[in-house]
Formats: sequence, structure tokens, C-alpha cells
Amino acid sequence: MLQTGTKRFRTHILGQNCLYFKELDSTNTYLKEHGGSLAHGTTVIAGRQTQGRGRLGRAWSSDEHTALYMSVLLKNIPQPISQSLPSLCGLATVKALEKLTGREFLIKWPNDVICLEKKVVGILCEGRLCGEQSYYVCGIGVNVLQDRAFFARNGLDHGGSILTQTHRVKTLEAVAESILIELEALLDVFVQEGFTPLLPAYKRHCVNIGREVRVITGETEQHGICVDVCADGSMLVDFCGQTKKICAGETSVRGFYGYV
Ligand code: BTN
Repeated sequence: MLQTGTKRFRTHILGQNCLYFKELDSTNTYLKEHGGSLAHGTTVIAGRQTQGRGRLGRAWSSDEHTALYMSVLLKNIPQPISQSLPSLCGLATVKALEKLTGREFLIKWPNDVICLEKKVVGILCEGRLCGEQSYYVCGIGVNVLQDRAFFARNGLDHGGSILTQTHRVKTLEAVAESILIELEALLDVFVQEGFTPLLPAYKRHCVNIGREVRVITGETEQHGICVDVCADGSMLVDFCGQTKKICAGETSVRGFYGYV
């Protein structure tokens, strides 16, 4: 089990200052509140979250000891590339889980990580302006050891864990470490050159490209074909011959999560 206090992962910076809490409202909320006085790379892990937050204002459910709730504090990220942080975290997580399990993981734009059509990881990146400085919090929730009954009990029809999808039993520490190692490596490239050099790897893992997608923005629902994803973290969708850039909102991909 993860221990309280400082923990050393096999990384140089990310996670070298690691704060572990048995219970927190949300690891993202903690780092948003305290990030101004903490070092770049500080990582917060909670055994359980009482108010875990997901994208689009949704809640992220919590299950003690079977899931990883981790947030990483990133400072000195050039503002123009910060909108690609979700893509960066998605790619780092996919690479980490593929290395750890030997199975294929894919990305549903912008950063749901899926394996055999079930969502295994959710990622929420948030920014905070603190005086003249801004910092970013990358929250990563990984379903690691839950069984099928957990997802059924909680009405999470589209959810799966590393266990249910790969039949591999991995510790929360191993999952955390592998993600931090990959994120650290990609971050070096990202800060120097932006997301462009990482885009081909992201695209290779992205399930959206070439598929029919449903885009919900506010009250409007539109169906189109995803033609590309871009280095700025957006997705290009062709709606009956008119290509639009989608930057946010809820999207579904035909063939995934019950969208038929
Ligand atoms: C999603 O909606 O898919 C994103 C879910 C993000 C959940 C993680 S768990 C760790 C961190 N703390 C939070 O409150 N949320 C993120």
C-alpha cells in the first residue's frame, strides 16, 4: 500500500515530492489550493476521494485501494501550449499502461484512456493563475483492481479496470510510477517543442480519427466524421462537408461506450 509522506519513484522530478493522503476531497482540488507554495512535479495521491471531480463538471467515483487517484503539479509550462496538456497526459498514460501490461490502450479524444472499449482512465487538467505565475494540475484517475461487479454496482457500464481488461494484477504504486516516468519523458519534449513532435504517437492511439462522432455543445447535438486531431489539442470534424474545429464539449465515438 502507498505510504504517507515523501516517496521516491524512479523519476528525476515528477513525484520526487509525493504527498499521500488516506482521504482527500480531491487531489486536484488540493493541488489547486496549495500549488503556489509547492515545487514543480509535486504529486498528490489519495487512498480515497470524497469529492473526486471529472471533466464537464461530473463527479469521479471513488473506491478505496483498487483505484489510483493522482494529481501532478506542473509549473513553467508555456501558456500557448498549455491547452495540449490533456493530450500529453493521455499519451503518457497510454504509453505507461501499454508498457506495464503488454496490452493495447487507446485514447478517445481528448484524453479518455480505453482498453477493449472500456474507459480505464479519466484525466482532468486544470490551470490556476497565482499572482503573475500560472501552474497546472494534471489529475489522473486509473481503475486498477476493481472487478466487473464494481462497475455493474455503480452503473458504470462503460468503465473497466486494468484487471478486468487485461487480467493483469498491478499495484497502485507501479501504475503511478510508470505514468510519472512516461509523463516526465514526454514533458521534456513538450516544454521545448510543444505537442507537434508528439502528435504522430497521439494520432496512432486515437480512436476518433476516421470515425463518426457525436459532438454535444450546450443544447446542440451534431454528428460528423472526425478527420483529424491537432497539436493544439483540438479535433477537426467534418459536418456534411463543413469542417469545424472542436475544442471542448462532450463527444462520443460510434462503436464506443454504447454509441451505435
Ligand atoms: C474524467 O471525467 O474522465 C476525468 C476524471 C479525472 C479523475 C481524477 S482522479 C484524480 C484527480 N482528482 C480529481 O478530483 N479528479 C482527478
